Amino acid sequence: MAFYTLKVHDKRIETKDTVTLCFKQPGLKKIKYLAGQYLTLVFRINGRRYLRPYSFSSSPGVDSLLEITVKRIPGGIISNHINDAINIGDSIEVMEPMGDFIYQKDKDSSCSCIILWGVGSGITPLISIAKYILSTHSDKKVILLYGNRNHESVIFRDQILHLQQEFINNFTAWHFLTQAVVDESNPSLVQGRINPEKVFANLKQDDLENAVHYICGPPRLKESVKSALNLKGISSDRINTEDFELVKNPKDFVDIHTQLIELTFNNIKTTLEVVKGKSILEAGLDANIELPYSCQTGNCITCKGELLSGTVKTIGIDKFPEGLAQNEYLLCCSYPLSNDVKITIN
Ligand SMILES: Cc1cc2nc3c(=O)[nH]c(=O)nc-3n(C[C@H](O)[C@H](O)[C@H](O)COP(=O)(O)OP(=O)(O)OC[C@H]3O[C@@H](n4cnc5c(N)ncnc54)[C@H](O)[C@@H]3O)c2cc1C
Ligand code: FES
Repeated sequence: MAFYTLKVHDKRIETKDTVTLCFKQPGLKKIKYLAGQYLTLVFRINGRRYLRPYSFSSSPGVDSLLEITVKRIPGGIISNHINDAINIGDSIEVMEPMGDFIYQKDKDSSCSCIILWGVGSGITPLISIAKYILSTHSDKKVILLYGNRNHESVIFRDQILHLQQEFINNFTAWHFLTQAVVDESNPSLVQGRINPEKVFANLKQDDLENAVHYICGPPRLKESVKSALNLKGISSDRINTEDFELVKNPKDFVDIHTQLIELTFNNIKTTLEVVKGKSILEAGLDANIELPYSCQTGNCITCKGELLSGTVKTIGIDKFPEGLAQNEYLLCCSYPLSNDVKITIN
């Protein structure tokens, strides 16, 4: 895994709880990325190392700076640190870009319409994909369906407006606002949450039939849009989703108990207490073991470990990503089931 150090060239305030950090490309080895991918930022605060992924809000070939956009999470360590304590001129260590929430030329080129569904900070990879498609594929339509509380909480309001003006024939944006009185004569403003049925009723049949979908937002958005698309008969290979956090169902934890496990990392063996509810990764990080990880959503496989004995349960993901060998588990989603778990991380 390659690491880089980037200097903050600019810090832009987007809304009252969201900022964009703009980085200059490194002088020698440029960072290559695809629209929709993310950058993992590394911080050290009070002696503990934290890694957090942030999707690029910039787009390759369109924006000269590398940009990420971070919304505060109440009580969140890094999102608040970035908003409050990171300034122009600071250096930040980052991991090489990762992620598969991208426009896939081979698979998606037959689709004439790209439909982007997002809520709140979920806009970041979507705006990157929108800018990329609009600037490189003049034959494709892009439709953005973006949900927020009110006008003030819309991230990239001006940028979206600018894209609407620049790509008047190819780009449409609808804003869904839950806590604002909207001007009903403006067709791009809709009162309430994103409602797939309402969207379908206003879409051209041809656009819907020839579309590829990208969804990024809270779990309820993903579930409601996916099931509405499935009911419309849209195949799952035309639906791409990105999760910013893992949703854990308390029912999955009934057979999990606090366990002592043996963890070997960098040839050092540690007996680790994994308290009920914590993943093996979280337990390791709490014990100040600097394990490799990034997404914590079961996507990047950076946290994989080999199970040498015992049983572990995977919670929070429906399917394993590609690239795991037999007996390899994602420690961010793994919970010990037996008292003889031994894991090694290479
Ligand atoms: C692939 C990927 C891309 C991402 N891109 C972006 C992005 O472009 N912009 C952005 O602002 N964030 C993004 N995130 C989320 C980001 O990585 C952090 O999870 C988020 O900033 C919270 O970190 P924290 O240290 O502030 O919170 P923590 O201290 O880690 O968590 C504090 C509490 O908040 C909860 N929490 C953590 N993340 C979220 C969340 N996203 N929503 C609601 N509750 C949460 C935790 O369960 C915990 O209870 C992305 C995440 C992933 C996996
Ligand atoms: S940290 Fe990405 S899969 Fe576990």
